[in-house]
Amino acid sequence: MSTPSLLILPGDGIGPEVMAEVIRIIDWFGDKRGLKFDVTMDLVGGAAYDKHGVPLADETMAKAQEVDAVLLGAVGGPKYDVLDFSVKPERGLLRLRKEMDLFANLRPAQCFDALADFSSLKKDIVAGLDIMIVRELTSGVYFGEPRGITTVDGERIGINTQRYTESEIRRVAIAAFELAMKRNKKLCSMEKANVMEAGILWRDVVTEVSADYPEVELSHMYADNGAMQLVRAPKQFDVIVTDNLFGDILSDCAAMLTGSLGMLPSASLGAPMENGRPKAMYEPVHGSAPDIAGQGKANPIACILSFAMALRYSFNEGDEATRLEQAIEKVLADGVRTGDLLADEGVTPVSTTGMGDAILAALDASL
Ligand code: IPM
Ligand code: MG
Repeated sequence: MSTPSLLILPGDGIGPEVMAEVIRIIDWFGDKRGLKFDVTMDLVGGAAYDKHGVPLADETMAKAQEVDAVLLGAVGGPKYDVLDFSVKPERGLLRLRKEMDLFANLRPAQCFDALADFSSLKKDIVAGLDIMIVRELTSGVYFGEPRGITTVDGERIGINTQRYTESEIRRVAIAAFELAMKRNKKLCSMEKANVMEAGILWRDVVTEVSADYPEVELSHMYADNGAMQLVRAPKQFDVIVTDNLFGDILSDCAAMLTGSLGMLPSASLGAPMENGRPKAMYEPVHGSAPDIAGQGKANPIACILSFAMALRYSFNEGDEATRLEQAIEKVLADGVRTGDLLADEGVTPVSTTGMGDAILAALDASL
């Protein structure tokens, strides 16, 4: 097979500086493990707007469709708040998700042992937590029509539409059941079937799909209760599948439980391409953190873990992904901390590059 290709879109804010560390890690795998990638860099978000007047140029979109995987840093920043909705940095991200048809968004919420004290919850409630939220990413209220702001009888009305077809629900449900089979065979589906027809259909279709996965224990929960249960007793969950908007909210909630919001990666996967790899984009869950951008303070771990997910889900290199994840765990266990992870006085934070150095050293030590 030819050298796998990566499109790297660092984006805005801390995106470029955390991505610089990912590039060093990619180079390490090329030099030390013989895993070479054909890397192209391009712009997304505000950075693309500054150059092209749009948050994603058509040529970049076309490139994203061709490569084996896209790695994205972060988009957005206060400078772009004044822009028209249609060219805001976020629209670049949403266009990538929609046009690549990346319907299954995998958001792990994992509590690193060394960081359990950072959770706002009691340590025993979160220690060892390892859940996976599968968020539907290309439909629902994010994209449903009609939408817009119209005026009726002199009053403005804001309209968005929650809309799901059976096939959209089915394909994300299948992705979630497949993941559940590889994990602890437990899946909880969340919607609001008590108030929304789209929720009733969601529950029906997920139940239908479950017939093909008799080994997976399926439960259903209203999403509001799900939010409450996530905070009350998160370890009751293993894989959660939910729609686009609930998934957006529940995944932030789950991420924060772990105390590691700045540490969590995500994978957005679509249908298999001709070479058998899924269409894929990998990005950290955190945003562009404009308040610390350009200062070398950002934690690159979420972005590096996103590359680990790429190794696992796009390139079938699960062992190398584990190597990278273990190197990160070791660095954390050794007490290396960027500023966002500092609780004890007396510990000096390392810079973004310093964290990269420590991870590279741990990778060297793994050989
Ligand atoms: C996320 C973000 C995005 C979303 C924004 C930046 C459009 O919050 O990836 O969770 O709402 O999906
Ligand atoms: Mg979000």
